[in-house]
Amino acid sequence: MSTVLVQSSAMSQSENARRALEPDGEELRRLLDACSRFVVEHVRTLPEQPSFDMSRAAEIAATFREPVPETGQPMEEILQRLAPAFAKSFTTAGPGYLAFIPGGGIPVAALADLLACVTNRFVGVAAAAPALAQIEATTIQWLANLMGYPPESGGILTSGGSISNLMAVVAARSSKLPEDFQYGRIYLSEETHLSVVKAARIAGFSERNLRWIPVDGRCRILPDRLEQAIREDKDRGLRPFLVIGNAGTTNTGAVDPIPELLKIGRRHDLWIHGDAAYGGFFRLAREGDALLPGLEQCDSITLDPHKGLFLPYGTGCLLVREPEHLSKSMATRASYLQDVAEGHGIPSFHEISPELSRDFRGLRIWLPMQLHGLAAFREQIQEKLDLARWAYQELKDDPHFEMLDEPQLSIVAFTAKGEGEAASARGAEILRRVNERRRVFLSSTKMQGRYVLRICILSFRSHLDRVREAVEGLKQEARAVSERG
Ligand SMILES: Cc1ncc(COP(=O)(O)O)c(C=O)c1O
Repeated sequence: MSTVLVQSSAMSQSENARRALEPDGEELRRLLDACSRFVVEHVRTLPEQPSFDMSRAAEIAATFREPVPETGQPMEEILQRLAPAFAKSFTTAGPGYLAFIPGGGIPVAALADLLACVTNRFVGVAAAAPALAQIEATTIQWLANLMGYPPESGGILTSGGSISNLMAVVAARSSKLPEDFQYGRIYLSEETHLSVVKAARIAGFSERNLRWIPVDGRCRILPDRLEQAIREDKDRGLRPFLVIGNAGTTNTGAVDPIPELLKIGRRHDLWIHGDAAYGGFFRLAREGDALLPGLEQCDSITLDPHKGLFLPYGTGCLLVREPEHLSKSMATRASYLQDVAEGHGIPSFHEISPELSRDFRGLRIWLPMQLHGLAAFREQIQEKLDLARWAYQELKDDPHFEMLDEPQLSIVAFTAKGEGEAASARGAEILRRVNERRRVFLSSTKMQGRYVLRICILSFRSHLDRVREAVEGLKQEARAVSERG
């Protein structure tokens, strides 16, 4: 083949390749339009969508076990395939989602992601996009400020609370323990989230480094028992270094007595970490400081904007009072980054995080705040607290239920009245029947061997009408279950 032919074939191939991955302006707009029609329709129909739909879910899942397609398909066909995949799931973005810890997914956060993904700027090092890195740093400062942290505090946006807890354990370890940390002890309550246990394991600790502390009748860690355990461990030559304080437990939203933990922490030179993944943003409510006293004094705080700021999954945060502890725990150098070493006074996030390349999470917080303003979030958070209190009052006098506690935040936890297996079975049956109505979706837990039903109100789409449906559904189904015997 002549050189000219080889060249022209290579040119037409590269032209094809270029076009294949770079839709022109018109085509891009068409693709965006198709997606935006899909999104707008999804949001419009959310209130009528069932609260979950798992019928034929496995069958539909199986249709996605497929080889990679060699050639592309039209967007409309792809969206048609995706629609049932979205439908056959828990409707986590819907108003009836009152299970586990709801998130939400405010739509404009997706616009931030669209901008971030298409521009694909690199925010891991400040030199690569100083203003964008500053936007992210600003959002971290906003969150720190909302938690009552001082201006010199800092932090990092993570993919979620689990990774924030992991980074907190590593920061505490490097701040308080020697290189050989095998005698380190972490104190946590029976109600602490499982991510802390995973975090400890990943950070090089095992079960023998964990000391479980019992809780009181309201599921809050017992400070006396904590101090006693610390003293015992010190006497045995162990190295207490970290206490996890829950600022809203996953089961019931219990808030540990953090001021007491801080006092103990000061006496024994411990790192106090506040796990506020669920509860932190309740500080935005009118009585917020009183709900979560002492949080602002913790050495570090885990927050989940994808819970209490209603953002899409994948938006977490770790705050630290003294940011140098984070940089110390991650400090390392690489010559291939020498060209981007100058940060213009703006943090380079990779220096305080295990991640180098990652998504631009800051825009996902910044844009909704710019568009909606903080007041809109405050109102939502206040409403969630009020709704939980309302639901508690409504259920408390019902003869079929026994409340575990007044809601400390926005979780209402209760059992079917009675003792033992029979009450647990009744509780499970009530939950099944309420969920089967498909208007709300509730989840359960087990506490001291009892089956516990939970209503967790945290979605920005859940309002009084839907919470009332949950409460009325529970009362009706409880009556039906008890009449059936
Ligand atoms: C108290 C608490 N901590 C940590 C986590 C883990 O957060 P994520 O699911 O964002 O990893 C959760 C999740 O529900 C939680 O409730």
